[in-house]
Amino acid sequence: MTSSMLFWGTALLATFSVAAPSIRASDSARLCDSDLEVVSSSLRSLFRSGLSLSPNKSTSRCKVFPGDAAWPREEVWDILNVLTGKRLLKPKPQARVCYNGPDYDAAKCAQLTANWTRSYTHFIDPIEMMSPFAQGLTCTPPNIFDSHNCTQGGFPVYVINATSPKHVQLGVNFARNTGVRLVVRNTGHDFLGKSGGAGSLSIWTNHFKSMEFIPKFEDRKLGYSGPAIKAGSGVQAFEAYKFAHEHGTVVVGGEGETVGIFGGYMQGGGHSPLSSLYGIGADQVLAFEVVKADGTFVTADSTHNTDLFWALRGGGGSTFGVVTSVTVKAHPEMVTTSSSFSFTNANIGNETFWKAVRAYLNYFEVNADAGTYSYFNIIPTAWSGAISFNMVPFFAPNKTLAETHALLDPWFKELKDLGIFKANPNVTEYPSFYEAWRNSFPLEVVEKINATTGSRMFPRENFATEEKKDELLKNIRMSTENNRVQVHFNMKNVDPANVDNAVNSAWRKNIMFSQQAVRWPVNATAAERLAIRKNFTFGDMQRWRDISPGAGSYLAEADRLEPDFGQAFWGTKYPRLLKLKAQLDPHDVFFAATSVGSERWKVESVDGLPNENGRLCRVEQS
Ligand SMILES: Cc1cc2nc3c(=O)[nH]c(=O)nc-3n(C[C@H](O)[C@H](O)[C@H](O)COP(=O)(O)OP(=O)(O)OC[C@H]3O[C@@H](n4cnc5c(N)ncnc54)[C@H](O)[C@@H]3O)c2cc1C
Ligand SMILES: *[C@@H]1O[C@H](CO)[C@@H](O)[C@H](O)[C@H]1NC(C)=O
Ligand SMILES: *[C@@H]1O[C@H](CO)[C@@H](O)[C@H](O)[C@H]1NC(C)=O
Ligand SMILES: *[C@@H]1O[C@H](CO)[C@@H](O)[C@H](O)[C@H]1NC(C)=O
Ligand SMILES: *[C@@H]1O[C@H](CO)[C@@H](O)[C@H](O)[C@H]1NC(C)=O
Ligand SMILES: *[C@@H]1O[C@H](CO)[C@@H](O)[C@H](O)[C@H]1NC(C)=O
Ligand SMILES: *[C@@H]1O[C@H](CO)[C@@H](O)[C@H](O)[C@H]1NC(C)=O
Ligand SMILES: *[C@@H]1O[C@H](CO)[C@@H](O)[C@H](O)[C@H]1NC(C)=O
Ligand SMILES: *[C@@H]1O[C@H](CO)[C@@H](O)[C@H](O)[C@H]1NC(C)=O
Ligand SMILES: *[C@@H]1O[C@H](CO)[C@@H](O)[C@H](O)[C@H]1NC(C)=O
Ligand SMILES: *[C@@H]1O[C@H](CO)[C@@H](O)[C@H](O)[C@H]1NC(C)=O
Repeated sequence: MTSSMLFWGTALLATFSVAAPSIRASDSARLCDSDLEVVSSSLRSLFRSGLSLSPNKSTSRCKVFPGDAAWPREEVWDILNVLTGKRLLKPKPQARVCYNGPDYDAAKCAQLTANWTRSYTHFIDPIEMMSPFAQGLTCTPPNIFDSHNCTQGGFPVYVINATSPKHVQLGVNFARNTGVRLVVRNTGHDFLGKSGGAGSLSIWTNHFKSMEFIPKFEDRKLGYSGPAIKAGSGVQAFEAYKFAHEHGTVVVGGEGETVGIFGGYMQGGGHSPLSSLYGIGADQVLAFEVVKADGTFVTADSTHNTDLFWALRGGGGSTFGVVTSVTVKAHPEMVTTSSSFSFTNANIGNETFWKAVRAYLNYFEVNADAGTYSYFNIIPTAWSGAISFNMVPFFAPNKTLAETHALLDPWFKELKDLGIFKANPNVTEYPSFYEAWRNSFPLEVVEKINATTGSRMFPRENFATEEKKDELLKNIRMSTENNRVQVHFNMKNVDPANVDNAVNSAWRKNIMFSQQAVRWPVNATAAERLAIRKNFTFGDMQRWRDISPGAGSYLAEADRLEPDFGQAFWGTKYPRLLKLKAQLDPHDVFFAATSVGSERWKVESVDGLPNENGRLCRVEQS
C-alpha cells in the first residue's frame, strides 16, 4: 500500500495533458510502442505489455479497489480513455432510471420493467448481468425486486468498449500493472456472476462482430479439411447461424439465440442441438486470436501457442486470455425435423405422469446415438400440486420426418396407451437447420432474482440397466417433490474427430445433462437465502452426485457453490489446467468465480452471499 501510494505520487508529478489535440490512438490493430509515445514516460509502464509485476503487487492481499490510495487517479483513467480511442465508459446500472437521482425517468423505468426478462434488453448494456442475484441485486426495477436504492454493487466501475485487439491489450496491461481487478464481459449471459465484479475494469467484447467465410480450411494435425467461419468473439448465435446458413452451412452453437457462442460459450465447452452429431462447441475450434495475460496478442492453434489452444477449448472464459476471434468448422446445411409437446399430471395422476417420463428414459441412448437432441423441462407448482412436462423441442438434425417418427413413435405409442395423448403430437420437417432452429426454440426468460441452478452430466452408466433407470427416475421425481424446476437435455457430446482439448472428460460419457433450480422467497434475508442454497447444494444436488459417481457438472450452467468444482467442471483435465494457469497467468490477472485457479481468491461480498458485490481478495493460507 505504502509503496503504491509512493508510486502514484511520483507518477503524477509527470505532466500530462489529456486534452492535447496531438494525442490520438493510432489505427493499427495491435498495440505498438509508438502508441504509447504520447504518454509521459513515467506513466508509460502502466500500459506496456510483457512487464512483470512489482513484488508488492503480486503479494498484496486484495486487488486495488476504489477508495484505496493505489486506485488510479481520474487523470490516469483519462489516459486509458485516450489510448483506447475514447472507448472507456463509466456506466451506471440501467435500472437507475427507476430510482431517485438525476436520471430518474418513470416512463423509461416502465419500458425497462416490461422488457426485463428479455435477453435483448441486457446484452446491449455495457455491464448488465443476466443473473442479478450474482451481481448483488443492488439496482433492479422495483416492480421486479426492490433494491431500495441504486448502487453499483457487483457491476464494474469502468468498461472498455473494445473493437480492436489493441483496446483489449491496453485494458489487460492496465489492470495487470495497476493491480485493479479485471473482468471480461461479452453478453452477460453467465449464470454464476463471471461477467461482472465490483471495483473492476471490464473489457466488453460484444462489439467484435466481424464474420468471414473460408471455403477451404486445412489443418492436418486437427484432421480437418473443409469450410470454416472466422468470427469476432462478440458474434452471437442468431448472427452466426444466419451467416452460416447464407453460406449453405451450419456451425455448432447453443440453442439460446442471444448466447455469445464465440465468447464464454465456446471456451467453456458449449453444448448444442448439433452436439450429438458433431461434438461440443470447443471441439469445433480451429484457431483463436487472443490477448494473453502479459498483454501480447497472439494466435493459438494447432501449431502456435498449443498449450493455450488446448486450454481455451473447454478450460473456461476469463482465465487464460481475452479472445478476440474464433475460427470454427462449418458443416453442411441439412434437413432438420423437430417436435414440441407437453403433458401434465392433471387427469392422469402422478403415477401415470412418472410412468410416462420413465418410459422416455428407455430411448435416451438410442436417440443420442442417432444424432438427436432433446430439451425438456419438468415444472412443479407447489401450491396446486400440478406438474408439467414440456418438450421444447425434440430436435433431429439431418433427419427427415419419417426418420424422426421412427425414433419418436414407440414412445408416443406408450403415451397413448397411458391415456396421455389421443394422437401423435405435431412433428415438422424443415428444409434446413436454420429454419428448424428459428421455429423451435422460444426466447428464454432471463434475470431471475430468486433462483439458482445446479447441473449434472449423467453418463451411460445411469442407463445401463432397468434398475439404474428406476434409480434415476426416483431422483428426478424427488427433485420435483422438493419443488425444484428441472431442465434436461438428452444428447451426447462426442467429437467424431476425437480431438484432444480441455473439455470436461465427463461430457464424453454424457447421455442426459440435467439442471435443477432452487427458488427462495423474494423477501428472504441473506442468512435465509444462504441456508436454502446450501440445503440445495448439499441436498438435492448431492443426491444427483451420489447416483453418478465421478461424473461432472457443466461450468457454464452451474452452482457457484459446487463443491470440488475443479473435478466437477473439468474431471481428469483439471491438474493440467492448473499447471497451465500458473504458466500463462502467473499473477492471476484473470479471475472469475469457479474458474481454473480461482481457489486462491474470494469475493468478500458485503452480505456474505456468493456474489460479486465486494472486494476480490486472496484466500488466507492457513
Ligand atoms: C438463455 C440462455 C441460454 C443458454 N443456452 C446454452 C446452450 O444452449 N448451450 C450451452 O452450452 N450454454 C448455454 N447457456 C450458457 C452459456 O453458454 C454461458 O452463459 C456462456 O458463458 C455465455 O457466454 P457469453 O460470452 O455470452 O456470456 P458472458 O456472461 O458475457 O461471459 C461468460 C464468461 O465468459 C467470459 N468471456 C466472455 N467472452 C470472452 C472472451 N472473448 N475472452 C475471454 N473470456 C470471455 C466472461 O468473462 C465470463 O466469465 C445459456 C445461457 C443462457 C442465459
Ligand atoms: C513493498 O511494500 C513494503 C511495505 O508494505 C515496503 O517496505 C517495500 O519497500 C515495498 N517494496 C517495493 C519493491 O516496493
Ligand atoms: C419493451 O416494452 C414495451 C412495452 O411493453 C414494448 O412496446 C416494446 O416493444 C418493448 N421493447 C423491446 C425491445 O422488447
Ligand atoms: C443509496 O446509496 C447511496 C450511495 O451509496 C447512499 O449515499 C445513500 O445513503 C443510499 N440511500 C439509501 C436510502 O439507502
Ligand atoms: C460500443 O461500441 C459500438 C461499436 O463502435 C457502438 O456501436 C456502441 O454504441 C458502443 N456502446 C456504448 C455504450 O458506447
Ligand atoms: C403429485 O405430486 C406433487 C408433488 O410433486 C404433489 O404436490 C401432489 O399433491 C401430488 N398429487 C397427488 C394427487 O398426489
Ligand atoms: C446426414 O445424413 C446423410 C444421409 O443419411 C448421411 O450420409 C450423413 O453421414 C449424415 N451426416 C452426419 C453428420 O451424420
Ligand atoms: C405443425 O406445426 C407446424 C409448425 O409450427 C405448422 O406449420 C403446422 O401447421 C402444424 N401442423 C398441424 C397439423 O397442426
Ligand atoms: C420468485 O420471484 C418471482 C417473481 O420474479 C415470484 O413470482 C415467485 O413467487 C418467487 N418465488 C418465491 C419462492 O418466492
Ligand atoms: C416474507 O413474506 C412472508 C409472506 O408475506 C412472511 O411470512 C415472512 O415472514 C417474510 N419474511 C421476511 C424475512 O420478511
Ligand atoms: C434440507 O432441508 C430439509 C427440510 O428442512 C431437511 O430435511 C434436509 O435434511 C436438509 N438437507 C440438507 C443437506 O441440509
